[in-house]
Amino acid sequence: MKKILGLTVAVVFLAVAMLAFAAPQAPKEDLKITCKKGDVTFSHAKHAAASITDCKTCHHKYNGEGTPKKCDECHKEKKEGKTPKMKDAAHKKCRGCHRDLKKAGKKAGPTPCKGCHKK
Ligand code: HEC
Ligand code: HEC
Ligand code: HEC
Ligand code: HEC
Repeated sequence: MKKILGLTVAVVFLAVAMLAFAAPQAPKEDLKITCKKGDVTFSHAKHAAASITDCKTCHHKYNGEGTPKKCDECHKEKKEGKTPKMKDAAHKKCRGCHRDLKKAGKKAGPTPCKGCHKK
């Protein structure tokens, strides 16, 4: 009986551990994206607080396993085949969403250059 109980506890423990492992966590601290134009600070927490919680909204090639890759692992300084350069990818994704939300009269992030690029 004791053995079965012990085994049950072990199985439950493992299941909980696997669940915790399956739900990836975004970094809590602000990330600095270094840029010649002026570094851009990105906060997962502030976006999550604005209900942007789906990782794939930005990490569009992420399949939900492990941790997402940085954008610049694929998006380089110059366009490569179908992969737009980092600048265009960032502006389309980041500034694009901010612009669309602003147009819709909703709470949005910055669209002026200096709102993101800080010297
Ligand atoms: C609004 C856009 C956005 C959303 C939503 C988002 N991320 Fe990110 N994430 C980024 C950006 C931008 C970076 C920084 C990339 C860089 O430095 O090139 C990043 C970086 C990361 C990194 C660090 C990668 C590294 O190697 O340092 C992890 C881990 C991460 N995100 C996980 C997540 C998870 C998990 C979620 C969903 C819960 C999520 N992110 C949602 C935009 C986003
Ligand atoms: C594993 C490689 C990879 C990673 C990591 C990646 N991308 Fe991409 N991205 C691509 C490729 C390849 C394309 C070309 C179109 C396609 O295949 O979806 C693309 C296209 C885009 C586009 C243009 C889509 C369109 O509708 O025109 C945007 C915007 C973009 N990426 C933003 C990002 C951002 C922001 C990040 C980081 C949060 C990121 N990407 C991370 C590979 C990647
Ligand atoms: C799907 C929409 C969406 C995407 C994609 C998005 N943002 Fe935002 N962003 C927001 C919203 C909404 C806010 C407002 C949050 C607030 O004021 O609390 C915000 C706020 C910000 C802020 C201001 C934070 C502050 O300190 O007040 C910065 C900087 C920012 N975003 C940068 C980025 C960057 C860089 C990216 C791309 C890697 C990005 N955002 C992608 C919607 C988005
Ligand atoms: C919502 C945030 C945001 C806004 C607003 C924004 N940018 Fe960016 N920009 C970024 C991010 C993120 C990158 C990618 C960082 C990198 O790889 O250099 C970037 C990249 C760039 C680069 C590429 C630098 C390089 O080394 O290749 C230039 C130039 C640039 N931005 C100019 C501008 C100008 C000009 C404006 C205003 C018209 C502007 N940006 C508005 C977020 C923003």
